[in-house]
Amino acid sequence: MDAPCKWRAFTATSRRGLQNASSRGGRLDVVDVLAIQLQNLRHKLAVSARVSLYLRDSTRLGFGDGGYDQVVIFFLLHEQPEVARRQTLAEALRVVRPGGKLVIVDYHLPRRLHPLRYLVYPVLRALEPFALDLWYREISEWLPKGIRVSEIRKQTFCGGLYQKLVITP
Ligand SMILES: C[S@@+](CC[C@H](N)C(=O)[O-])C[C@H]1O[C@@H](n2cnc3c(N)ncnc32)[C@H](O)[C@@H]1O
Repeated sequence: MDAPCKWRAFTATSRRGLQNASSRGGRLDVVDVLAIQLQNLRHKLAVSARVSLYLRDSTRLGFGDGGYDQVVIFFLLHEQPEVARRQTLAEALRVVRPGGKLVIVDYHLPRRLHPLRYLVYPVLRALEPFALDLWYREISEWLPKGIRVSEIRKQTFCGGLYQKLVITP
């Protein structure tokens, strides 16, 4: 089922995640492969924020198995070629604890006659060579072979422009 656009929900995901985690006494670890992205995030965070920033590659996280209640992959998979995308998903599932959740937010094929469908297509084609994979294939296709998951819930937003997957391993 498609949900209406909630732009702020997308742009403020990290802050909301932080608030949710903090209110339960939790903390948030953020991974990015570019130092500049982490520096920019550091400037936006309150000094007291219970957030740790890690300069790491999503395909080789280097964290222990099952150490996280939830893992969020936010607009990353569309940037990666298939091999890296598979490794990122395998790593995310490795570090989430049994009974935890993996949440993925990324692009999706907009519905037919969606006004942005015909504008976004050439932009993605020119600037994001791997992004159109997410229009034509399901993210679940890149999960590790043979992995058992209890549930995959998919929701689309903004006329199909974006998708959210909640995977319960
Ligand atoms: C389109 S941005 C997504 C927005 C960002 N996640 C946020 O919440 O603002 C993609 C981000 O993924 C990072 N990235 C790309 N490849 C990566 C990798 N292999 N490991 C970790 N981060 C990566 C980029 O540096 C960039 O910051």
